Amino acid sequence: MIEIMNLTVVYPDGTKAVDDVSLTIRDGERVALVGANGAGKTSLLLALVGVLPLTSGTVSADGLELSKKTLSDIRRKVGMVFQNPDDQLFMPMIADDVAFGPRNYGLGEEETARRVDGALDMLGISHLKNRSSLKLSGGEKRMAAIATVLTMEPSALLFDEPTAFLDPKARRGLIGVLKKLGQSQVIATHDLTFAEEVCSRTILLKQGRIYADGDPKILFRDEKLMDDCGIEAIM
Ligand SMILES: Nc1ncnc2c1ncn2[C@@H]1O[C@H](COP(=O)(O)OP(=O)(O)OP(=O)(O)O)[C@@H](O)[C@H]1O
Ligand SMILES: [Mg+2]
Repeated sequence: MIEIMNLTVVYPDGTKAVDDVSLTIRDGERVALVGANGAGKTSLLLALVGVLPLTSGTVSADGLELSKKTLSDIRRKVGMVFQNPDDQLFMPMIADDVAFGPRNYGLGEEETARRVDGALDMLGISHLKNRSSLKLSGGEKRMAAIATVLTMEPSALLFDEPTAFLDPKARRGLIGVLKKLGQSQVIATHDLTFAEEVCSRTILLKQGRIYADGDPKILFRDEKLMDDCGIEAIM
């Protein structure tokens, strides 16, 4: 479970990207984070894993409050799949990228290998194990980036625009994977049909604040609400 209380994130130049957000993500819940460009989706996700400092408010995962001291433990509990897979893939081989987290946390080679094989298998990319990320397609890279996070066996996953640059088949594959995973998920996306299919709940963000919280099937068809947030409703 992730608990966010009165979270505000202000960048050094004074931009308030997240403005007094309070939110609980229950175990196993899949939540879409939707909002126009600049609404604060990425900033919110980055704050949850301590990449951006919290200006005020608190964040906790499974009862553990995020702080400098707990940062490393929080990152084992909450895995973030960045918008750009290249930020997560930097080793000569995918196998090493995916093993990076467990090795870094001092898990043995045997346990690391078990997790690497498990994650690759789960995502259907075992055949990419010995390839270099430099030579993968966008969709393959996205799956590999997810694998690097799954090997930490986190209880929650954060995704920043996971369907960006995916072709319809890769997008469909991703939908299957996300539905199969048991973790809580928070997914920032502009892809409303994707959000509807994967998530039972949507948070609509506007200028860093929660504007609505509810069933995507209903929110996305509320023309006035969506218009207020600068997003095109689903007709
Ligand atoms: N490094 C930064 N310094 C200052 N302001 C920033 C920085 N990064 C983002 N912002 C501002 O913070 C606000 C929220 O941006 P954020 O990237 O979180 O939005 P977003 O909802 O993820 O948008 P998008 O849909 O375009 O990805 C915007 O006003 C943006 O200009
Ligand atoms: Mg963003």
